[in-house]
Amino acid sequence: GKGNYRHFMEKELHEHPAVLGDTLRQYLDPKTLEVRLPRLPFDATRVPRLTISACGSAFIAGQVGRYWIEQLARLPVDADVASEFRYRDPPLPEGGAAILVSQSGETADTMAALRLLKEGGQKVLSVVNVPESSMARESDGAVLTVAGPEIGVASTKAFTAQLAVLACLAIGFGRQRRELTTLDEGRLTQSLLEVPSHAAAVLEQDAQIRELAAEVAKARDVLFLGRGSLYPIALEGALKLKEISYIHAEGYAAGEMKHGPIALIDNNVPVIALCPSGPLFEKTASNLQEAAARGGRIMAFTDADGVGPLSRFAERVIELPKVGAFPTPILYAIPVQLLAYHVAVLKGTDVDQPRNLAKSVTVE
Ligand code: F6R
Repeated sequence: GKGNYRHFMEKELHEHPAVLGDTLRQYLDPKTLEVRLPRLPFDATRVPRLTISACGSAFIAGQVGRYWIEQLARLPVDADVASEFRYRDPPLPEGGAAILVSQSGETADTMAALRLLKEGGQKVLSVVNVPESSMARESDGAVLTVAGPEIGVASTKAFTAQLAVLACLAIGFGRQRRELTTLDEGRLTQSLLEVPSHAAAVLEQDAQIRELAAEVAKARDVLFLGRGSLYPIALEGALKLKEISYIHAEGYAAGEMKHGPIALIDNNVPVIALCPSGPLFEKTASNLQEAAARGGRIMAFTDADGVGPLSRFAERVIELPKVGAFPTPILYAIPVQLLAYHVAVLKGTDVDQPRNLAKSVTVE
């Protein structure tokens, strides 16, 4: 049941800290700070290239996975939505491997990608939430997200659990490929282990996010911006808002603004910025400032170090806990999902069963 919550989605959003803790504990050892992966169907030191494929939010998780795996393991990754991947006849490398991501493990296009990859001689690992699913069964190996059943059609806790698993895989590959020292590994796993308690702190900012939702609910169009591993989270924010509140939203890489979307900017378009402090902060902040100079209403999510600089031009700044650069996409996914939830509630839509959508898409 929903317990004391109004919707399954709200309940599932509040399960983020527990689910992240359960999933991380499954794949990392809090004592030794080492990643502890199950036996994988391929050897990351021998794979020339990795293919990541999935649909919807699961594909967005895969895109974050690409940033992490390329950065930490220096392993080239090709990421594409399953419905494109399966028809574009991609050349697959000899001895290659693939990761498929899916909550249900039954999505038709992802299943088709799985079969194509296996026929192409790739070793396939799936990141799935349903252990007895078709995908778990037909893959060469499966790593489970420990999210429990997800009832709301919009994926929430399963998405962050997918990120947690991909983060552990990225560290594991990095270690196997000797790109990470034991010290690096300890630092990265430590920063992941801090995420569940920070996630709980983010959920306590519900009132602030509800105030932001009241502004967003009045808009016809909304832009979400981010850079690096926060770019896919901008896509997640836009997807979730469209899906459950029916407000038109786009997620963009902040650096792409000046190549087109900045033409949309006027004082009716909220610009939701995912802008934690760190090496990409100045770049993103300057894109935002350009949007603000054109009348754009900047609503920024940042950490303590970003509040000062962004407050100079942003209409609203929400401070999130400061975590290491590596786990930020996991943490920043939570407020964008929560925002979509509150906007949908304000608009009175069917939050758990948005129109035209099904939880498991078993037809292509
Ligand atoms: C968005 C959402 C969908 C799913 C997609 C893939 O909130 O839930 O985009 O992520 O349909 O589903 P699975 O993960 O079951 O393969």
